[in-house]
Amino acid sequence: MNVRKTLKRKRGVPAKPVTVASLVRSVAADLKRAKLVFAHGTVDPIAEAAFIVAETLGIHPHFIAARAEMPVAAAKQKKIARLVDRRIRTRKPTAYLLKRIYMLGVPFYIDERAIVPRSFLGEVLASELFAGQSFSLLPDAEAVGSVLDLCTGSGCLAILSAMRFRGAKVDAVELSKDAIEVARRNAAEHKLKKRLRVLRGDLFAPVADKRYDLIISNPPYVDDAGMKGLPPECRHEPAMAFDGGTDGLDIVRRIIDEAGRHLTRNGGLLCEIGRGREALERAYPKLRFLWLDTEESSGEVFWLDAGQLRGAPAVIPGRSP
Ligand SMILES: C[S@@+](CC[C@H](N)C(=O)[O-])C[C@H]1O[C@@H](n2cnc3c(N)ncnc32)[C@H](O)[C@@H]1O
Repeated sequence: MNVRKTLKRKRGVPAKPVTVASLVRSVAADLKRAKLVFAHGTVDPIAEAAFIVAETLGIHPHFIAARAEMPVAAAKQKKIARLVDRRIRTRKPTAYLLKRIYMLGVPFYIDERAIVPRSFLGEVLASELFAGQSFSLLPDAEAVGSVLDLCTGSGCLAILSAMRFRGAKVDAVELSKDAIEVARRNAAEHKLKKRLRVLRGDLFAPVADKRYDLIISNPPYVDDAGMKGLPPECRHEPAMAFDGGTDGLDIVRRIIDEAGRHLTRNGGLLCEIGRGREALERAYPKLRFLWLDTEESSGEVFWLDAGQLRGAPAVIPGRSP
């Protein structure tokens, strides 16, 4: 990569110091040339280069701009060059190479046992949607006492929920025994073991008939065609984190069908889906989905309140309702 060229400059010729900013630019150029997929916590080569450089130098990603002119030692340049080579050669998501990812500036441990966190729900949880002056999804976000995160993976959304709803106890459910270990590690690193239970099992099974003020889920929702077309980066992630059955909605339907029995009176369900909006609206013609757009998504996150979810089974084509 370009960094090497900089290191090989002839003796006696004063080389311009390599700074954080120049390094980010040269790494970004390498990543761009390699035509990688940027979808694992970063959205373009510059963002990914900044992540690589910041993490290697021990700078929180929010503060990298403030360190733009800081010179970078040769040893760190070499470390970054090796990382970039591995990223391009293996197509592994950078988060797996660094064993770290940030959501809303919050760091999470991550490895191949769990999908790399990047859910749109993080942004929704942090937004005014839960405590706006003129509108709120819940009557009193400060009074939320219990949250259930279904399909928790690394535990990222459960942890962000615990941080958002300070008085809440959070249950996080995950079927994969590998991912559960990552979630438990993250819960411990964020010192949330007293407020966050990580439970292994199939959707609502581990929580029996318990009710929650808020249920959130970013379930597997990739359809058959999407599974066949997954980019190389995603093939390093657990397939069960993506596979949502033929139309991608197998798990989403189960969540909608059962959520009503697990919500308190004024509670609600916040759920991310892929591109299944139309199919979902056809399957549940009586439900009034509230579609929430985020910075990077449109029509991929819905909200349903408890009132609607009480008794709304899916209409399956070919079967009488
Ligand atoms: C799209 S990933 C989301 C992970 C995490 N919530 C996030 O946003 O990064 C879906 C997760 O659901 C888990 N999963 C799949 N089927 C499940 C089931 N029936 N019950 C519980 N978890 C399940 C997968 O192992 C995977 O970790």
